[in-house]
Amino acid sequence: SPSDNGSGGGRSGALSPGPVTGDVQKIDANPPKGTRDFPPEDMRMRNWLLNSFKEVSRLYGFEEVDFPVLESEALFVRKAGEEIKDQLYCFEDRGNRRVALRPELTPSLARLVIQKGKSLSLPLKWFTVGQCWRCERMTRGRRREHYQWNMDIIGVPGVMADAELISSIVTLLKRVGITKSDVGFKVSSRKVLQEVLRCYSIPDNLFGKVCIIIDKIEKIPSDDVKNELKALGISQDAVQELLEVLSISSLPELEERLGSSGEAVAELKELFSLADKFGYAEWLQFDASVVRGLSYYTGIVFEGFDREGKLRAICGGGRYDHLFSTFGGDDIPACGFGFGDAVIVELLKEKGLLLELSLQIENIVCALDLDLQGAASMVASMLREKGQTVDLVLESKPLKWVFKRAARINAQRLVLVGNSEWQRGMVGVKILSTGQQYEVKLDDLE
Ligand code: HAM
Repeated sequence: SPSDNGSGGGRSGALSPGPVTGDVQKIDANPPKGTRDFPPEDMRMRNWLLNSFKEVSRLYGFEEVDFPVLESEALFVRKAGEEIKDQLYCFEDRGNRRVALRPELTPSLARLVIQKGKSLSLPLKWFTVGQCWRCERMTRGRRREHYQWNMDIIGVPGVMADAELISSIVTLLKRVGITKSDVGFKVSSRKVLQEVLRCYSIPDNLFGKVCIIIDKIEKIPSDDVKNELKALGISQDAVQELLEVLSISSLPELEERLGSSGEAVAELKELFSLADKFGYAEWLQFDASVVRGLSYYTGIVFEGFDREGKLRAICGGGRYDHLFSTFGGDDIPACGFGFGDAVIVELLKEKGLLLELSLQIENIVCALDLDLQGAASMVASMLREKGQTVDLVLESKPLKWVFKRAARINAQRLVLVGNSEWQRGMVGVKILSTGQQYEVKLDDLE
């Protein structure tokens, strides 16, 4: 209250003004439901994971891009009845424009490619890591914001591109300690469904909607799926055939059913053969039930899953050769994937693979007298100029406190600025792992 002003409200009892009456509004110290704070230890973990995503992308020769988190709502509103549309965080801004927090990155990528137009030389190999927002029901590994790693190849029509993308995910998984006995990829092609639909003369414009309905097969009762398909005008026979084909989980069986002349079987066979050459065939399995919940996929689709079946999809992607034309651009063949930060962390925890990353600072620099604080700041500046990390003790503290802090920040050495040494142009150094202690000339401090 105002009566507290200047009478001990501040930490040192000095002039810090207290709150004005009526300004106190007790806040909820928790972040909004489904979102996260990142205190230092979580931030270290997030940086480690996101840097691993970036390193793998660069290993594959991809360039980094980024887009705004806030986009126009229209970018995400497709008519196929996708779940993602109902999960949009959207609102009207002060200029009466409908905007949304991005739930995914692919539409922004497509927007940028269209905007750049002919100035781009294809193929593009782009990666991005960004925060996405979906107002989802919270389950393990699904939250309302997550960081998603995307790699996309634009301008390559052949299966080689899809195979390269899966290879990069496998590289990432191996890097973080995951093996083929922990994780697998279910692979199919939307062309499987397309071939069945064409047999029954179902118009191509229903394709996206059919895929979205079929994607719900494991989430809602199969009668509801059948009814939704029938409501689209799909005959009972076609529905039956679709559901039977979707239950196939071997490529030879699919070939028997669809024949070998169609693109679906040919592309899937090529993908498995390439997976063999890349060296990750054992991670892959064909599963016709993988359709994916976004309407823009047109060809090969895949999802990473944990073999114990405890978690939601680890990552997912596929080919989307017509997305650009649905935005009014020219069609360009494209494929890509999204890989979130949440499920992989759950899996790493489950497998005991999540390292405790501690803070590590090379030097802790401390003045032994208050009037040597300027000298200590000179020492800190010198070391920082040489690229060394320094935690400078900013107050006058007893040595016991300094040692405790050094241990907490995992400092390698303690640099002590004391009066008699300083007068000789020297400082005291203690190597904290060995206890070794010596004096060194300021200029020789490396
Ligand atoms: P998606 O399957 O919707 O695809 O999401 C990709 C991945 O993002 C998921 O497998 C999961 O790892 C993560 N993810 C999605 N939603 C959540 C959530 N609520 N909480 C935590 N993690 C989540 C896409 O978004 C496509 N745009 C991917 C793509 C890129 N396709 C082509 N290029």
